Formats: sequence, structure tokens, C-alpha cells
Amino acid sequence: MKTKVKNQKPILVFATNSKNKLAEVRSILGDRFEIRSLKEVGCNAELPETHDTLEENALEKARYVNKYYGFDCFADDTGLEVDALDGAPGVYSARYANIEDADYNDPLVGADHDSEANMRKLLHKLDGKENRKARFRTSIALIYKGKEYFFDGIINGSILTEKHGTEGFGYDPVFRPEGYDKSFAELGGDIKNRISHRALATEKLAGFLLK
Ligand code: IMP
Repeated sequence: MKTKVKNQKPILVFATNSKNKLAEVRSILGDRFEIRSLKEVGCNAELPETHDTLEENALEKARYVNKYYGFDCFADDTGLEVDALDGAPGVYSARYANIEDADYNDPLVGADHDSEANMRKLLHKLDGKENRKARFRTSIALIYKGKEYFFDGIINGSILTEKHGTEGFGYDPVFRPEGYDKSFAELGGDIKNRISHRALATEKLAGFLLK
């Protein structure tokens, strides 16, 4: 384990290059930790998410960085679980539109992480359905001083019938958190970063690290 100190802040690698996620996590942990991205530690590999659970995917990414780069590290995986779809897209949320589906054939389908295509498929699958309950679930795997830990965060809400708002990323325009009358994409970063699945999981991570 390498623990370098800069401005008195311990370094933690967040195994992602997503600017949105880094901004979200830095806004929560940034005062207390120097959060480095994969690129910032020289890792340009696309880390695989090959498992059937969020926990296993997150742990695989954290183990990779810890093993090859030597830093304490955490990684996340998030899924959107929709009740009327028996929990889909779940762990396959990033490539939902690309998953073979006899009932759905989108000629515009793009690559994995094509949020527009993913939202199109989701709205199509929920067309006419009354039950639109859903939740985002994040699992964070942390490797810290040679030990492995998990933290999770859940936010309940519902899937709108069309996209609303332009902020955020992924499924934000179609997800409305419980207790709000706007989508994540309309609520914007300040509110989302306080209430989101990732914020809740990251707060648990922070609570643990500050113990
Ligand atoms: P990952 O864990 O970042 O790989 O996310 C899996 C999928 O969920 C991707 O399609 C993301 O765009 C989506 N996703 C993850 N977090 C969020 C979020 O906070 N809002 C909306 N979509 C998200």
C-alpha cells in the first residue's frame, strides 16, 4: 500500500474516469481526501464489469487498481432497479439497450453507456405500465490497508413517462426521487449530490474512513 500525503490529505483512488462521478464524490470527500482518478494514477485500462452483482463488479475494479498501482482504492457500481421489470436493468444498466431482447429492437441502438438508447428502451418497456417504482442502488467496494469493505446506498423513486431536464448523466432525466416533483436532471447537482444513491454510499464510506 502506498499512502502519500499532499496538503495533509491522504490519497484515495476512485477507480473511475467519469467526470460526473468524480465531481460528485469530490464534493463529498474532497475536503478530507485527495481523490485521484484512474488516469491520474496512470491507469488507462477500461476496467471490466463482468459479474452479475454490483458488489462483485465494484470489488473487481478496486482489486485491479490496488494490485497493479498499489494505492488504497475504492470503486463503485450502480444499477437502476425497476419493479415492473423485475429489477431490470439492474447490474446491466450501462448496456441495457445492447442486451438482446426479443421484445425490443432499436435500430438506433448505440454502444454500451449510450444513455439515450438506454432511456429509450426503458421508456418503451414501461409504456402503459402503472407501476413505475424504481430505485438506484450503488455498491462501493473499498480496499483500505489491505482489507476489503462494502458500502451501499439506495434512493427510491419512479420512472417518468418522458425525459425532463438536462443536468446530470445516465438515467437522470427519467428518474424522479421520492419526495420531489422533478427529475434528477432537473434538480441539478447540488440537490442530487446530497440525496443520491452514490452520495449515501459515499457518506458511509466517509464515515468509515474518518472513524
Ligand atoms: P456505472 O456504475 O457507472 O457503470 O453505472 C451503470 C449505469 O447506471 C450507467 O448507464 C450509468 O449511466 C447509470 N448511472 C449510474 N449512476 C447514475 C446516476 O447517478 N444517475 C443516472 N444514471 C446513473
